[in-house]
Amino acid sequence: MIIEPRTRGFICLTSHPVGCEQNVLNQIDYIKSNPVANGPKKVLVIGASTGFGLASRITSAYGSNASTIGVFFEKPPTEGRPASPGWYNSAAFEAQAHKDGLYAKSINGDAFSNEIKAQTLKLIQDDLGKIDMVIYSLASPVRTHPDTGERFKSVLKPIGETFTNNTVDFHTGVVKEISIEPCSGDDIDNTIAVMGGEDWKMWIDLLKSADVLSEDFKTVAYSYIGPSLTEAVYRKGTIGRAKDHLEATAFEITDSLKDINGKGYVSVNKALVTQASSAIPVIPLYISLLYKVMKEEGIHEGCIEQIERLFNERLYAEDLQLDEQGRIRVDDWEMRDDIQAKVLELWKEATTETLPNIGDLDGYKTDFFNLFGFNVDGVDYDKDVNEMVAIPGLQ
Ligand code: NAD
Ligand code: NA
Repeated sequence: MIIEPRTRGFICLTSHPVGCEQNVLNQIDYIKSNPVANGPKKVLVIGASTGFGLASRITSAYGSNASTIGVFFEKPPTEGRPASPGWYNSAAFEAQAHKDGLYAKSINGDAFSNEIKAQTLKLIQDDLGKIDMVIYSLASPVRTHPDTGERFKSVLKPIGETFTNNTVDFHTGVVKEISIEPCSGDDIDNTIAVMGGEDWKMWIDLLKSADVLSEDFKTVAYSYIGPSLTEAVYRKGTIGRAKDHLEATAFEITDSLKDINGKGYVSVNKALVTQASSAIPVIPLYISLLYKVMKEEGIHEGCIEQIERLFNERLYAEDLQLDEQGRIRVDDWEMRDDIQAKVLELWKEATTETLPNIGDLDGYKTDFFNLFGFNVDGVDYDKDVNEMVAIPGLQ
């Protein structure tokens, strides 16, 4: 079939298998030319199919020949209806990994559930024995608690006061003011239940008790801080509370792994266009301006460049360069004073009329469509494609 993008609000309902494959191959090429010395060897990636998690899987596999197990929650294709992009990404990654002689298997299901955890553990025991790294890169709006069955929904709201600022609809380029009412009721606790560290700790506890973590084991989860502009709705909002919880969980994990000299870390990453971030108000306008400034300075990175730097210059380097709160920072270039000062200047001038010149709205849009395999260089979109692509190592 011929597959075209069909968008509704901040999501795209279709995705293109060949475009997704090309994105994966581009990331593989990048890592092949930037290998990781002393990198991981046996890796579990939770949230492995898109964004930072996919980049982590590719960096592990192609940076240091790691065997990888990927866990994700993606929609398979049906006749005439494309799969979700993470499905096609994973299919492309595994097909290429197998060609290149790398072990790669996947589990598609709810990572928050006991069933998927048990299935993953069994696969590790059967195939890998012990693993030396777990990447935790889930982004989800909901979580069903595995013990109580309670279903939590996360919200992206400020705490205490209404937040008013500009945002952009990146489809139309219209810049306008929006107001977001403060959270109420159990919003904070619910958001922590979904995006905090409880599930990460459950995974590590299970794997530790089954004795499948090797000496000097490492686990990393991803966090975000961002500028003062987005603080009220992000870092000091409900999602920020969940990130505080996630960051605190890293220390608990390290404490629980003392006997194997294991470590839990949080890496604070840069703002990037992903399915998760395009849904957050104000962030698209911030990212459009940030991209412009960082590209001009020659320091723009995508997910793969971020994770390559995380592995090569932090995790598997001499010095993790932890901040005062014990976090790894690969958002260091985004947060540079000169970069932030420029973004703040542009923010004050940003209108529907000025944004195409002062911001990188095109870069934002391209990245957004790329997430779904569209607008990818070198792909012939007029060509008939088979939507029924299988993931070779799917369990
Ligand atoms: P993403 O949407 O690209 O990836 C989410 C992944 O989680 C996918 O692989 C998806 O299949 C998987 N997933 C979601 N729900 C699942 C479930 N119930 N069971 C199994 N798998 C599930 O998101 P991303 O932007 O790469 O985010 C990953 C992490 O990085 C998040 O913690 C996010 O907060 C953090 N982060 C993102 C940014 C950014 O700007 N995008 C910046 C810094 C940190
Ligand atoms: Na991810």
